[in-house]
Amino acid sequence: MAATRTFSIIKPDATRRNLTGAVTKMLEEAGLRVVASKRIHMTREQAEGFYGVHRERPFFNDLVEFMISGPVVVQVLEGEDAVTRNRDIMGATNPANAEPGTIRKELAESIEANTVHGSDSEENAKIEIDFFFKPEEIVG
Ligand code: PPS
Repeated sequence: MAATRTFSIIKPDATRRNLTGAVTKMLEEAGLRVVASKRIHMTREQAEGFYGVHRERPFFNDLVEFMISGPVVVQVLEGEDAVTRNRDIMGATNPANAEPGTIRKELAESIEANTVHGSDSEENAKIEIDFFFKPEEIVG
C-alpha cells in the first residue's frame, strides 16, 4: 500500500508538560514519519476556523480557549494508511476510554486536555494540512 498523509496537532497540555518528544516518539514507533512540523501559538481566528465544524457543539468555546492557551506543534505525518494508523496510536478521545499503550491513555490529562488531534479521514487530512502548511513546507 502506498504511503498516505495525515495531520496531527500536539496540543497545549503536551507542550506545557514538555512532552513534544514523547508524543513524536510514539508516533514514529507506530510507523509514522514526520514530514512537516512547526510550533505555533494559534490565534483565536485560526482555532475557530480549524474547529468550525464543531461550532454548534456545547464544548466549542472551551475547545477553542484550550487550543489557544499555549503553543501547539502542527505536523504532517506520512505512512501506510496514515489516518487510521494515527487514530489507532492516539486512542479514544476520552483518555479514560483509551486502550493501554495509546498516546491518550499514557499521556493525556482529560477529554479536553487530550494531548493530540488527528484527522478523521483522508479528505479532512488534506483540508487540515492545507490549513496550516504550504506545499513547500512538506518534505517527504
Ligand atoms: S467527533 O466529531 O465525534 O469526532 O467529536 P469528538 O472527537 O468527540 O470531539 C471533537 C473535538 O472536540 C474535543 N472535545 C472536547 N473538548 C472540550 N471539552 C469536551 N467536553 C470535549 N469533547 C470533545 C475533542 O478532543 C476533539 O478535539 P480534536 O482536536 O479534534 O481531537
